[in-house]
Amino acid sequence: MGFFDFLTEEIAIDLGTANTLIIHNDKVVVDSPSIVALDRSTGKVRAVGKEAAMMQGKTHENIKTIRPLKDGVIADFAASEEMINRFIKDIPALKKKWIKPAMRMVICIPSGITEVEMRAVRESAERVNGKEVYLIHEPMAAAIGIGVDIMQPKGNMIVDIGGGTTEIAVIALGGIVCDKSVKIAGDVFTNDIIYYMRTQHNLYVGERTAEKVKIQIGAATEDLETPPEEMSVQGRDLLTGKPKQVQISYREIAKALDKSILRIEDGVMETLSQTPPELAADIYNTGIYLAGGGSMLRGLDKRLSQKTDLPVYIAEDPLRAVVRGTGITLKNLERYKSVLIK
Ligand SMILES: Nc1ncnc2c1ncn2[C@@H]1O[C@H](COP(=O)(O)OP(=O)(O)O)[C@@H](O)[C@H]1O
Ligand SMILES: [Mg+2]
Repeated sequence: MGFFDFLTEEIAIDLGTANTLIIHNDKVVVDSPSIVALDRSTGKVRAVGKEAAMMQGKTHENIKTIRPLKDGVIADFAASEEMINRFIKDIPALKKKWIKPAMRMVICIPSGITEVEMRAVRESAERVNGKEVYLIHEPMAAAIGIGVDIMQPKGNMIVDIGGGTTEIAVIALGGIVCDKSVKIAGDVFTNDIIYYMRTQHNLYVGERTAEKVKIQIGAATEDLETPPEEMSVQGRDLLTGKPKQVQISYREIAKALDKSILRIEDGVMETLSQTPPELAADIYNTGIYLAGGGSMLRGLDKRLSQKTDLPVYIAEDPLRAVVRGTGITLKNLERYKSVLIK
């Protein structure tokens, strides 16, 4: 903390595979898809976030949309830097400033990213005036955001089901004791639905339609207590080539997603089996916490609970648990110093 500290702005960033969120002055000021639209001929960024998402699946030969962090690794460094840059520039309170403020940032990154990628994120942040840049691992930020006291000598299990990856971790004493990153999450669920519609109904649907189906009637089990109503799904008939509509029930989606959910269950079971016994004893009492957009899939909590014989809790506002935790870390840097990535 120095003399010019009043000139420093503080921001917390959750750089997710599907969504990027930013907290500034205790408020979520950015909540946008991690998508970039690029001009194919010049390679220039045409749009990011929501604007780029609108173009998805509707681009022509001059524009393509990419998700630079799609699988939890950085596929395109330049595009991700430009994306972060534009998101930060778009923060309303910072736009008004006549001098570019120095920034103190905590950035949450997917656990799967490598040292080289981490350095790239840090350097990108420094280039957008990040004078103090700290990185934090996703399960850690999720745990803090959920309200778990991570500093205690007590084991807690966090499962964060995002877009590209599911991060499973056991946390105690401010550290990750064992963890696993599975490349099965929301995106795979969406693709499962596309595949199911194609093979079972000869219906070719786009990614946006499949995502809508997932959110509206998606389920992890075929016996929901309060089932959603059937949904009409439109796409292109693969046989006739004509536009067509079919009625779909949540049971069909549960079938479509079953194999992928099994893989997440396996990941959880494997992590549990690697957990030291004293921490396993804690988890027996504390249960499993779910975060991330994928945790909102109907019946997933119940299914995981049946599989593990443990209580399973979904975080409040699971899409924002990670950015909440990142924001709390930012405001309590001294306390959380040890959990930041060195
Ligand atoms: N109600 C819902 N039911 C099922 N999946 C959802 C729901 N809402 C969002 N999702 C999915 O959650 C994923 C995004 O979650 P998020 O935690 O933002 O991911 P990331 O942290 O990787 O950016 C997307 O795949 C999205 O389709
Ligand atoms: Mg996330």
